[in-house]
Amino acid sequence: MAAAVFEWQSIEPAIAVDFFHVDGNSGSYKFASNKEELPHRLFLHPCSSPALSVSPLQKIRKMASSGSATGPHALFVTAPYQGHFAPAVDLAITLAARGFVVTFVCTEAFHHQRIATGASSADHRDVFAGARSRGHDIRFELVSDGLPVSFDRHSHPDQFYSALLHLLPTHVDELIRKLLLSEAPVDFILADTFFSWASTLAKNHGLPCVSFWTKPALVFTLYYHMDLLIANGHFASPENRRDTITYIPGIPAMETTDLVSYLRETDTTTPLHQMIAKSFEEVKKCDFVLANTVQELEEETIAVLQQEKPFYAIGPIFPDGFTGGTVMTSLWPESDCSSWLDSMPPSSVLYVSFGSIASVSKKDFEEIAYGVLNSKANFIWVLRPGSSSSGAADPLPQGFLEASRERGLVVPWCRQREVLQHPAVGGFLTHCGWNSVAESMWCGVPMLCFPLFSDQPPNRKLVVQNLGIGTDLGEIGEVSRGKVSSRIDELMGGEGGAELRRKMKEVKKAVQGAVAPNGSSRKNLDRFTADLLRLIAQKNASVVAETKRG
Ligand code: UDX
Repeated sequence: MAAAVFEWQSIEPAIAVDFFHVDGNSGSYKFASNKEELPHRLFLHPCSSPALSVSPLQKIRKMASSGSATGPHALFVTAPYQGHFAPAVDLAITLAARGFVVTFVCTEAFHHQRIATGASSADHRDVFAGARSRGHDIRFELVSDGLPVSFDRHSHPDQFYSALLHLLPTHVDELIRKLLLSEAPVDFILADTFFSWASTLAKNHGLPCVSFWTKPALVFTLYYHMDLLIANGHFASPENRRDTITYIPGIPAMETTDLVSYLRETDTTTPLHQMIAKSFEEVKKCDFVLANTVQELEEETIAVLQQEKPFYAIGPIFPDGFTGGTVMTSLWPESDCSSWLDSMPPSSVLYVSFGSIASVSKKDFEEIAYGVLNSKANFIWVLRPGSSSSGAADPLPQGFLEASRERGLVVPWCRQREVLQHPAVGGFLTHCGWNSVAESMWCGVPMLCFPLFSDQPPNRKLVVQNLGIGTDLGEIGEVSRGKVSSRIDELMGGEGGAELRRKMKEVKKAVQGAVAPNGSSRKNLDRFTADLLRLIAQKNASVVAETKRG
């Protein structure tokens, strides 16, 4: 086997790749459709940094002689946010189900936040215990982001972003070095796109780098072309232009109100802006981008992006069965709304949630509350601590709960997927976080959109203008209780709502079809796997050749 290892030639191109192995006779990679065909699954890690003490050749020999049966090993570094962590967990499980080994890395502070709110057990080794019991090889590692765990990151975002930019990579680097010297060396780095050091770090260790993009291709494109926005004076100028933007490749004309909020600002000196700018310089150097979107929803934008970068739409990334999942990904304990929902008529409930980070201003919050109250809809409202910027422990208007007792349920956090999937739910008043949008599409629930910041405005554009599966509540500071209640009633029972539901049926079909066998996302993941293996093999081949020469 060891001799064959040094003679292997190339990876066979394969369309449907589920598992792969190195053939003991020819030394080439083989793809197989089931595990039984894999008597000697062995994977070679690529070269390591010259600074490391163990030579690549030694490691290749070690693996070959031990006959270790593993798929390619990903070091997967996830961003410390609810909306990034959840799809990363599901992607890790998806890859592990295909035979990859995954070392899943998250920051100590984020992990402790989950423990502190009661959302996770204190034993960090248990995060993927359920997945491991199903035979998936997923390991879990915590790294410091360079700040004390008790540091209040929310109140000091500048220090936090600086730490993510400058300190976290040193700890990830240490972990890579440790793993490269271990029995299971890593084969590639998979990191959230906002980690602005991932490609450089991977390159230093001779490893391929895969960027994980948790949002739609539209948003990726806007960031990717921020230099065009700057050159045209729409971003980062003392007074940004506000007219229509017509020059972004792959995106038809769009209004500045649809831009990512950070790309509408004039001051770009903050650590957050540095991190964004650096991330999109860095993503240009990565080998592949995996995106949590669906090809059919963003055909043109993706096609244009693919001329720049190998970009694979593999979404929506959900746990098996959508509401199941072996890892609890919430940041807060989840209230069970099922028996309340069971008591409600079909399609009568509006679900209201503004996600895990955003705050609604005191005035807008009050207008929305009265709008909900004055509408005819039943409702569930997720009132996470901090969802109103008023700072009040109970930001709802006085008498709200009493007046809505018969038809409303207010909870601090819930199992959103279960709620959206329940037949009683007929509409979603949402901040347009991408996970919420994806979940709503999966369940066929039309949306009423009130984006607050970040990628939420362009996500709304996709929902309202491009796909026609939602309606708009207006801009921040411009909502009134009358508009809120009339839009809710139209969404839930009007002709406009019926039209949205018709469109939503098609979108739901496309989204669910993408991850079905032969669906676009399945095929894209197969293509990614084959392309990644080919790249790893090329890197290994050059190490072997160099070592022979040396
Ligand atoms: C933010 C951005 O808004 C989002 O667009 C970006 O991609 C990530 O950061 P967030 O506010 O967390 O995300 O919104 P969203 O992306 O919608 O994610 C929220 C997640 O929390 C969803 O998966 C949702 O199911 C879950 N959730 C929300 C619950 O499980 N229970 C709740 O009560 C509310």
